[in-house]
Amino acid sequence: MKVEVGFRLNGYEVRAEVEPHLRLLDVLRDTLGETGTKEGCGEGECGACTVLVDGAAINSCLFPVCEAAGTSVMTVEGLAEANGALSPIQRAFLDHGGAQCGFCTPGIVMAGVALLAENPNPSDAEIRYSLTGNLCRCTGYVQIVAAIRAAAVATRGERGD
Ligand code: FES
Ligand code: FES
Repeated sequence: MKVEVGFRLNGYEVRAEVEPHLRLLDVLRDTLGETGTKEGCGEGECGACTVLVDGAAINSCLFPVCEAAGTSVMTVEGLAEANGALSPIQRAFLDHGGAQCGFCTPGIVMAGVALLAENPNPSDAEIRYSLTGNLCRCTGYVQIVAAIRAAAVATRGERGD
């Protein structure tokens, strides 16, 4: 039996008739068509599916969609401006080569958004710690850390280089 679940997604109210056993990841991608969020392991190990629920970074592959009812969900699709202008963290990932194959990138970017909301001036150690749940097999993380450091500077309204 399906149930109706409603939540805010990237600032817009959405409602969907879903099987109650589904994961938030399933509904984001398959029901709502927001395919920016990726599925890697499907069991909470890789972080590719990271989204924000009420500002907290969670693994959407482990998050029952019914628990999203009434929350505010943000995915990578919610970062850019309506006119297509990239957010500071998206721009920083481009500028610093923070993505190679890109599969991990939406999850890592969302983890970075959560970090910077909580800690606008993180150290490199704090950035690396915040990414312990996000695996990247391509970059070696150096560029990712540089991108998040630059995004922190940009978000604080300072000049980054
Ligand atoms: S797909 Fe969710 S943690 Fe890997
Ligand atoms: S850029 Fe390929 S897995 Fe991270």
